Amino acid sequence: ANKKLLVLPGDGIGPEVMREVLRVIDWLDRRRKVTFDLEEGLVGGAAIDAEGAPISDATLAKARAADAVLFGSVGGPKWDGLPFEKRPELGILRLRKELGLFANLRPAIVLDALADASSLKKELVRGLDIMIVRESTGGIYFGEPRGIETMPDGRRRGVDTEVYTEDEIARVARIAFELARKRGNKLCSVDKANVMQSGRLWRAVVGEIGRSEFPEVELTHMYADNCAMQLASRPKQFDVIVASNLFGDLLSDLAAALTGSLGMLPSATLGAPDSAGRRHALYEPVHGSAPDIAGKGIANPCAQILSFAMLLRWSFGLEEEARLVERAVERVLAGGLRTADIMQPGMARVGTTVMGEAVVRELEKL
Ligand code: NAI
Ligand code: MG
Repeated sequence: ANKKLLVLPGDGIGPEVMREVLRVIDWLDRRRKVTFDLEEGLVGGAAIDAEGAPISDATLAKARAADAVLFGSVGGPKWDGLPFEKRPELGILRLRKELGLFANLRPAIVLDALADASSLKKELVRGLDIMIVRESTGGIYFGEPRGIETMPDGRRRGVDTEVYTEDEIARVARIAFELARKRGNKLCSVDKANVMQSGRLWRAVVGEIGRSEFPEVELTHMYADNCAMQLASRPKQFDVIVASNLFGDLLSDLAAALTGSLGMLPSATLGAPDSAGRRHALYEPVHGSAPDIAGKGIANPCAQILSFAMLLRWSFGLEEEARLVERAVERVLAGGLRTADIMQPGMARVGTTVMGEAVVRELEKL
């Protein structure tokens, strides 16, 4: 059966960079005979304007029926005045919730061609290749009670609660261990077990899963504050990192900063396999809709293209094709083409389309 793929370009530069992925999909179809059953839908502001909601029930149904969702980005000044329940961002939040996407995979990779572009010490980041697994449906962003309450004396207090069940920890830990097993067999679990009860349970459960199911993976535990310091000072000591929603949010942004450009960073969010072994998954660049450059044709399509490479690998097991796409992107950069966001002296500045076409040209050669 063909692979069912739902494409949701969204707003701002979303549709611009997605167009370049469609070129790659077309190439795979023509040359490698990997054929997708492609559907497109609206999400975010585009869906609000055309369908009255940031994601329609019909689009959600398509997402549930698909093997994978390729997402662009949502939001923009046009919709900034809307109340929270009506905002474009709700499109992605609803997708994550309805598809049960609890594990956010954020690679932080420094490609050789871009190592010199980093504002950091080159030897610190050259060859960096780490994967951060962030729990993304639980923890302090969702725990009850939450809210701003007025106390009897009339003063207010803000309340958030960190709650993790054993099962929530175990399922994200398993994904991180599986990843570690495919990479360097090394997993670092991050918590604050010294001061948080949820952190104590986190550490205990990850340890139990490791001992009973993944004894060959070398597991270490690190306090989140120390991990932030270690990431900034000696990032190459890490291979796979697993963390709660809050700590993973902070640490993955820190790791992103090590690599330089937002325009290069892909991500995946995975759910649990169902009884038939099928798991929902959504792939998107780390960046947003970049309204400041939208419509100018200068956005970097690499993050979206690399998100598609992750999709080939994680949803369809097409490791070879995923590598081809990643290598093509690397070779375009090694050849000296740069979009404005990653521009360096002596390189050739190009727009979105030229970059996308160059990736397909490299694919032709590989
Ligand atoms: P942003 O990631 O859209 O942009 C930050 C900066 O990076 C901008 O200067 C932008 O021009 C640049 N940039 C981002 N992607 C780029 C690319 N591919 N090529 C070249 N330059 C790139 O974040 P910002 O400005 O905070 O948010 C803009 C809008 O995007 C907001 O409405 C926000 O809510 C939304 N957003 C949506 C996300 C999503 O759909 N998952 C994630 C983050 C933000
Ligand atoms: Mg963040």
